[in-house]
Amino acid sequence: MRITYRHQNNKDYWTKRWTDIPVDEAMENDQVYPLKHAKLTVTGKDGKILEAGCGVGRILRYYHQNGYDIVGIDFIPEAIDKLKEIDSGLQVEVGDVTNLNFEDETFQYFLAFGLYHNLPMDKIKEGIKETYRVVKTGGRVCASFRADNIQTYITDKHTAHKAKKSGKTSTGKEFHKMNLTRSEFSKLFSEVGFEVEDILYVENMPILYKFSMFRAKNHKTFDENLGRKEGYQLSFLGNLIQKSLITLFPSQFCNINILIAQKK
Ligand SMILES: C[S@@+](CC[C@H](N)C(=O)[O-])C[C@H]1O[C@@H](n2cnc3c(N)ncnc32)[C@H](O)[C@@H]1O
Repeated sequence: MRITYRHQNNKDYWTKRWTDIPVDEAMENDQVYPLKHAKLTVTGKDGKILEAGCGVGRILRYYHQNGYDIVGIDFIPEAIDKLKEIDSGLQVEVGDVTNLNFEDETFQYFLAFGLYHNLPMDKIKEGIKETYRVVKTGGRVCASFRADNIQTYITDKHTAHKAKKSGKTSTGKEFHKMNLTRSEFSKLFSEVGFEVEDILYVENMPILYKFSMFRAKNHKTFDENLGRKEGYQLSFLGNLIQKSLITLFPSQFCNINILIAQKK
């Protein structure tokens, strides 16, 4: 377990990030994170889905547009307001995963991409307990979390260096994110009663994407919405390096792990 500190606390970070970009379009590429993994989990239209930490809606909008019964919650009101504005038919509300406003056993599927690692350890435990409470028996959860490995360590060093260069001298003081190993995260889910089916090594935004020379042609100028819609695409060379690293050392060169679990 490793904690990442930055110059800005986690909630301020998400408020700024979601204020700065327009609402997402429905995600298109189902061969990349997180749509690929949502689809491994949601296997039918047979029950309600909760996307906890829905952000500006790329997954929520995908399922809504395809006729699924999906609800989204996020603790950033600016993100929820944007979603309501773009589509009043979306079921979205401000909410916190540590204290969900739903009855026991409401959801067949629970999606939580990049959510729990925004919390300190005691709160992660509360959030996972709440997850268990609102999922139906037989229901499934798909959750991604930041890996405690070489790639996230280098990313944090790189970000701290950039922040220092731009004069943010207080870098390092505020809680930003939790980094966990697979066994640490898996244990948290088993402890509350989930049966863990799988944990996958996944690359969301490879560290090479931070350097424009390794990005795909249409990604040279950083555009967060494009990356969120298509996935963070690398050039041929970038792909070659990243694929080699992740094939040889998957646990160290993924940046997230994805857990799929069932409430038995
Ligand atoms: C990595 S983003 C993922 C957004 C979206 N799921 C996606 O994949 O595009 C994580 C989201 O979790 C939200 N979040 C963080 N802590 C939360 C909490 N305690 N309760 C609800 N949402 C939270 C953040 O505001 C952010 O939108």
